[in-house]
Amino acid sequence: MRPFSNNINHNHFSLVFVKFAICFLFLGLAYRLISSSFVQFAPVSVSEAPFDYVVQKELPPSNITKPPVSDHLKPLHVDNQTSYKGEAKCNIFVGDWIRDSSGPLYTNNSCNSIELHQNCMKNGRPDRDYLNWRWKPKGCELPRFNPTSFLELMKDKSMAFIGDSIMRNHVQSLFCTISQIAEANEVYHDEHYRSKRWHVPSYNFTLSVVWSPYMTKSTTFEDDNGVSTGITQLHLDMLDSVWTQQYDNFDYVVVAGGKWFLKSAIYYEKNTIVGCHNCKDKNITQLGFYYAYRKAINSVLSYIMKSNHKVNAFFRTTTPDHFENGEWDTGGYCNRTRPFEEGEVDFVDIDQNMRKIELEEFQMASAAQSDKGLTLKLFDTAFLSLLRPDGHPGVYRQFQPYAEKDKNVHIQNDCLHWCLPGPIDSWNELMLEMLMNDGKH
Ligand SMILES: *[C@@H]1O[C@H](CO)[C@@H](O)[C@H](O)[C@H]1NC(C)=O
Ligand SMILES: *[C@@H]1O[C@H](CO)[C@@H](O)[C@H](O)[C@H]1NC(C)=O
Ligand SMILES: *[C@@H]1O[C@H](CO)[C@@H](O)[C@H](O)[C@H]1NC(C)=O
Ligand SMILES: *[C@@H]1O[C@H](CO)[C@@H](O)[C@H](O)[C@H]1NC(C)=O
Ligand SMILES: *[C@@H]1O[C@H](CO)[C@@H](O)[C@H](O)[C@H]1NC(C)=O
Ligand SMILES: *[C@@H]1O[C@H](CO)[C@@H](O)[C@H](O)[C@H]1NC(C)=O
Repeated sequence: MRPFSNNINHNHFSLVFVKFAICFLFLGLAYRLISSSFVQFAPVSVSEAPFDYVVQKELPPSNITKPPVSDHLKPLHVDNQTSYKGEAKCNIFVGDWIRDSSGPLYTNNSCNSIELHQNCMKNGRPDRDYLNWRWKPKGCELPRFNPTSFLELMKDKSMAFIGDSIMRNHVQSLFCTISQIAEANEVYHDEHYRSKRWHVPSYNFTLSVVWSPYMTKSTTFEDDNGVSTGITQLHLDMLDSVWTQQYDNFDYVVVAGGKWFLKSAIYYEKNTIVGCHNCKDKNITQLGFYYAYRKAINSVLSYIMKSNHKVNAFFRTTTPDHFENGEWDTGGYCNRTRPFEEGEVDFVDIDQNMRKIELEEFQMASAAQSDKGLTLKLFDTAFLSLLRPDGHPGVYRQFQPYAEKDKNVHIQNDCLHWCLPGPIDSWNELMLEMLMNDGKH
């Protein structure tokens, strides 16, 4: 057991997390719904929500089991495991959340593109104290996000966020801040509103979110409600063309793996089955998802390093969740109203192992970083996110959860994504700091 202040059950916590993550996606939360009210700032090409009917379906049974924990894992020390030290001033990813009453840069009233499931204000979350904190790195100051500075850096540039629903959560936060000062128009969305693109004419800035939860080539079997009907087929050495085919258009990319890798899947390399995680077929080796996670990240980072098209890449680390006293489907919740302090909490095994893989793969990839015009940076938000159990929608992932509800009926909690506005807004401050003070723009 690692140090933890009180009543969180660690084993539960890990398992919860896995199950939740998977189911969450099944639920359709991850993309169907998200897509719906997502970004309607654009006066013209507003996308109407085509998936409203998916909102509350039965939870499918979870087929996830807790993966084995690798041997010989040493606890991570965040102080020396992040490689970013902008201008050697300090490691901006190590620090504390401190009180700050200046409030968020946008609200549910000033940004009308916050999707319902993360619109905690609108959904009736009663406490507001979670908005009164800012990230304070040890040994330096992190300036408040300045959307004008950001847009000036992004003049005539294109930035893409490639990944899962956490990536979308982040894009929405960024979009809300920049759309306060500049008009942004939606110029593209895919069939399911999972991938989108906006253009900010006054800066000729193009912002994309590309739905690619594994980043590698995958075939998933899901019905219209996002319920799995078959095991995912995942090619660990082939990339998802949804992003690679656009790659040459991007000047900046943000990539990350995440919880989708915890799902049951058959793994392929060189178009041949090499193993699986959680499959029924006894003839297929159970490799566990850490194997796949490492291979997939390696494929993504290798591609970025080797591509003739040079980008500025941010590789984000894993995002911890904060279910307590239960799993996603057994009453787990997250109703804390203040951040943790350092030492009060540590990563659960799965996050710790995933982050270890991320750091190792990042270090290997960046060792080869000598090419002019390319930068690969570790965007290590894992630790500062771990300290914010208070920043999730919880029951306020739905509108007025307690209205017209039998008090005894359990309300599904979301302790993985982040309220908007909320702690994830600080990710923009960190990103801007890295853009401004760390070499090439
Ligand atoms: C990281 O820090 C810990 C504790 O301060 C130390 O024991 C460990 O050797 C350090 N690791 C590296 C790679 O510097
Ligand atoms: C924003 O949230 C408040 C409650 O905090 C609510 O009264 C208001 O109607 C919401 N605004 C919009 C545009 O949804
Ligand atoms: C806008 O930016 C793109 C690159 O993102 C560039 O190709 C294009 O020429 C720019 N347009 C104008 C009008 O400067
Ligand atoms: C998940 O488990 C349920 C019940 O055991 C089963 O009906 C379903 O086929 C399983 N789904 C997958 C994708 O294995
Ligand atoms: C597993 O492999 C054995 C030997 O090759 C074969 O006889 C058997 O049918 C296979 N089972 C499945 C479920 O494919
Ligand atoms: C969180 O919820 C639990 C269970 O409903 C309750 O016992 C606890 O008092 C709540 N904590 C806060 C801070 O609301």
